[in-house]
Amino acid sequence: MTSFKIRVPASSANIGPGFDSMGMALNLYLTLDVSPADEWTIEQHSPHLPELASVDDHYIVQVARDVATRWGKALPACHITVRSDIPLARGLGSSAAAIVSGIELANQVCGLSLTREQKLELGTAIEGHPDNIAPALMGGFIIAIGTDRTIDWVQLPSPEVDVVVSIPGDALETKTARNVLPGAYPMERAASASAVSNVLVASLASGDYELAGRMMERDLFHEPYRKDLIPHYDDIRTEAKKHGAYGSVISGAGPTMMSLTPKGTGGVVVSHVEALLPDYQVTLLQMDKSGVVTDENANG
Ligand code: HSE
Repeated sequence: MTSFKIRVPASSANIGPGFDSMGMALNLYLTLDVSPADEWTIEQHSPHLPELASVDDHYIVQVARDVATRWGKALPACHITVRSDIPLARGLGSSAAAIVSGIELANQVCGLSLTREQKLELGTAIEGHPDNIAPALMGGFIIAIGTDRTIDWVQLPSPEVDVVVSIPGDALETKTARNVLPGAYPMERAASASAVSNVLVASLASGDYELAGRMMERDLFHEPYRKDLIPHYDDIRTEAKKHGAYGSVISGAGPTMMSLTPKGTGGVVVSHVEALLPDYQVTLLQMDKSGVVTDENANG
C-alpha cells in the first residue's frame, strides 16, 4: 500500500422541499492523509472535528472496518491525518463526509474496487438517506431516492448561482431536528408539498432561478416544523432576499441557513447578513463538482 489522500466535500441537503432526496456538494472539505503503518495512529488538525477518540471509537475507522468486514477483509493498520473545514452538526454534511471517507478508506486499503453504486448503497444504508451521501460521493447537484435494494439518482447540471451559508455558533443534532417532524402528512398537504418540490426541480433544470427561489421557500415537508429550532430563520430569509438572493433554506437539518443568489452577487448577501448577525460565520461558497477524490501517492 502506498500513501494517498482522500478528499470529500461538504454538502447541503434538502434545498427546501427536496427533503431527504436532494443535495448539492459544496467546497468545504474533509481530508484524510493515509500512510501504511505498523500500528494504528490518527492525528487531527482542525477545530471542526470531534474530540480525538481512540482508534477503535473513531467514526471513520468504524465505517471503514464495517465495510472491510462486509467484504471479508481486515482493515490493515494505517497512520491517518484528518483535517476538516466542515463544521460539525451544522447541516453541512459532516457526517456524510466522514462516512464517504470511511468507505473510500476501506476501498483503497483493502483493494475492494467498489463501484460508485456500491459506495452509494453502503453510504445510504449507514446514513439512512442519500441526500448528503450522493453529492459527497459524486459532487454537484443530485436528486436521489433509496429503496431497500437500489438507489435511483440523477445528477443535474450544477445551478449557475452563488451559495451563501450562514452558520450559527451552536450545533443542532439531526436527531433533534427529525424529532419535530410529523409521522404522517394528510393527503392534500403531501400532494402540495410534492408539487412544490416538482416545480423546484423543473425550475432548477430549466435555469429559472427566480422560480426556484420561490419554491425553495415554500417547503411543506420539514421547514415549517423546524423553523423554531433555527435561530434567525426569518431574519436570514428576509435579509438575503432584500439583497438579491433567490431564496434561503435550512441547510440539511440545520441550523445553518443556505441562500442561493445570482452568480457574482453572493458577496453582497454575505456582507449584509454578517452585519445583521455578527456572531455568525457567513461564507460565500461554490459548488463542488468532483465529489470524493482519491489522490494516490499524494503523501509519498
Ligand atoms: N434530509 C436530512 C434531514 C438531512 O433533513 O433530516 C440531514 O441528515
